[in-house]
Amino acid sequence: MGTHLHITVWVLGIILFFVAFALAGKHDKGAKIVHMIVRLLYLLIIATGVELYVRTGMNIPSFQGEYFGKMILGILVIGLMEMVLVRKKKGKSVKGVFVGFLVIAFVTILLGLRLPIGFHIF
Ligand code: HEM
Repeated sequence: MGTHLHITVWVLGIILFFVAFALAGKHDKGAKIVHMIVRLLYLLIIATGVELYVRTGMNIPSFQGEYFGKMILGILVIGLMEMVLVRKKKGKSVKGVFVGFLVIAFVTILLGLRLPIGFHIF
């Protein structure tokens, strides 16, 4: 199966995150529904990532540190996405958490691409 399912769900998650961000704070059903779908995608991103690790990464001893880092960073990205949406909804400032999201997402993608399964751009 490779990494395609994992990539599909995080790309979809990030796209819908931007939609949810645009809608956050509006008092309508659409904003709530899109946020719920983004939350469902968090679970799928984690499930497909853990599945990749258990099925393949776990058996590559020389990369355990990097795999650990990849999983922590992936969960951090999700935490930051949720913080951005909740803070915007509450009318709090989002600049800091948004920049954090962009930076950590970028590092997570680079590390993912460097790791042994799937695409090898670096
Ligand atoms: C929004 C969050 C995330 C992003 C943007 C992301 C991004 C990526 C990317 C770009 C890859 C490489 C795919 C390839 O080379 O074909 C990857 C692979 C992987 N991801 Fe994620 N990921 C995220 C969340 C997670 C989470 C939460 C976990 C685990 C708890 C995880 C575990 C993994 C594992 C184990 C791999 C395989 C690495 C390899 O050996 O190539 N990811 N991810």
